[in-house]
Amino acid sequence: MTNSESTSAASQGVGQRWSSRWLFILAAAGSAVGLGNIWKFPYIAGENGGGVFVAIYLGCVAAVGIPIMISEVLLGRQGRSSPIHTMRSLSQCAGASGRWTALGWLGVVTGFLILSYYGVIAGWTLHYVWLSMSGAFAGADGASVGATFDAFLADPWALVFYQTLFMALTIWIVGRGVTRGIEAAIRWFMPLLFLLLLVLFIYSLNSGGFAQDWAFMFDLKWDAVSSDTVLIAMGQAFFTLSLGMGTMMAYGAYVPEDANLGTTVVSIAALDTFIAIAAGLVIFPIVFANGLEVGQGPGLTFVTLPLAFSQMPFGEVFGGIFFLLISFAAITSAISLTEPALSYLVEEYNAKRQRVALSLGVICWLLGLGTVFSFNIWSDMMIVGDLNFFGFLDYLSQNIMLPLGGMLIAFFAMWLLPKELMYKQLGITNPAVGWAWRILAGVVAPVGVLVVFVSTLWPVLASLLGL
Ligand code: TRP
Repeated sequence: MTNSESTSAASQGVGQRWSSRWLFILAAAGSAVGLGNIWKFPYIAGENGGGVFVAIYLGCVAAVGIPIMISEVLLGRQGRSSPIHTMRSLSQCAGASGRWTALGWLGVVTGFLILSYYGVIAGWTLHYVWLSMSGAFAGADGASVGATFDAFLADPWALVFYQTLFMALTIWIVGRGVTRGIEAAIRWFMPLLFLLLLVLFIYSLNSGGFAQDWAFMFDLKWDAVSSDTVLIAMGQAFFTLSLGMGTMMAYGAYVPEDANLGTTVVSIAALDTFIAIAAGLVIFPIVFANGLEVGQGPGLTFVTLPLAFSQMPFGEVFGGIFFLLISFAAITSAISLTEPALSYLVEEYNAKRQRVALSLGVICWLLGLGTVFSFNIWSDMMIVGDLNFFGFLDYLSQNIMLPLGGMLIAFFAMWLLPKELMYKQLGITNPAVGWAWRILAGVVAPVGVLVVFVSTLWPVLASLLGL
């Protein structure tokens, strides 16, 4: 390779590496920890009956999430390019059909759908930074915090304003190139996020609702389970771990050769799960102590947290910082949602990062308007069943596209990629370990996804088709 060729390859991301295993853990955790942990997990746990949901979710993280994340990162590190190119080159190397490249495309489409609504909700957190700091919640009670939130959602202009702000920030950072800015930010924000969650946790412990919260989060009330619960818990495990659409494959492409994938992935999943559970332990005591509704849906976090801050000394400052941290967490996740599409376009067309980032951002922004209107002018317009535009997009991407992508990724890594390559990536030398691993990641994880799919979706499909 000539000198100029190697420089242009490096600027495309080919041959780029995280500076260490630890930085990969930070970047992957930055992708994983986001709105999924602090906003989504508490509200879907609340809507789906608490304890049993939490238990199924933890089971999905351990039995399905971790093996699939390892598969995804190992394909990325083996392919060392964007997910679409990785799937193309690995399917050739495995002698498998070129159609596997479609898996890369599925990831790109899923990323668009998710980012389109992610940008809207992340905009809410930016608005709440401002509201908290300006003292809008000082001395407020549950009813008035709820009313503030409802009024905000009813105003499409306000939602679009903050959506635009968040998307512009994301595009700007993505366009500049991720590594330095993000790595530096994550080093600061992760410890701070832990610290503020701890402060809130101590507050919640004293709020008078903690015992009820503990029972809600950890008591197994099986009668609360519906047929959809398992699918939703599994979808949440995929969403919160950033699995099933090539994000971890794209990030895996930059992992140094000598990093142990097993322990690395377990650390990422543990960090992510810890933050989700902590958010639940913070939010529900406040719900119970103030007589709020656990199943109120997407607004849960935006009502309970301001309420907690409104009753604390220096609540404006703590509240402002906390929502700012959630916005940061959302940005590091949003960036990772663009990475599969971005790295593909940059590699394939040797295009300028900034330009690609801007075009991707504009498309997501436009699609995001549908989500904005789902909270006001289109709120009653149902796409299927009782799902409006936002509900449908969210259900489709999280509960169907991500698990589908993840299942195929694990299947490909375990059964089509040459076994020696897979073992080499994982450092497996003992055949017994190899078999145990293949049963877990090659059978339990994908078949688990399939069973949940068929048992939950088949009845729905059958009734739609009139069978
Ligand atoms: N995991 C992030 C969160 O919990 C969202 C996210 C980032 C994501 N990248 C992803 C979800 C890729 C699915 C796939 O907020």
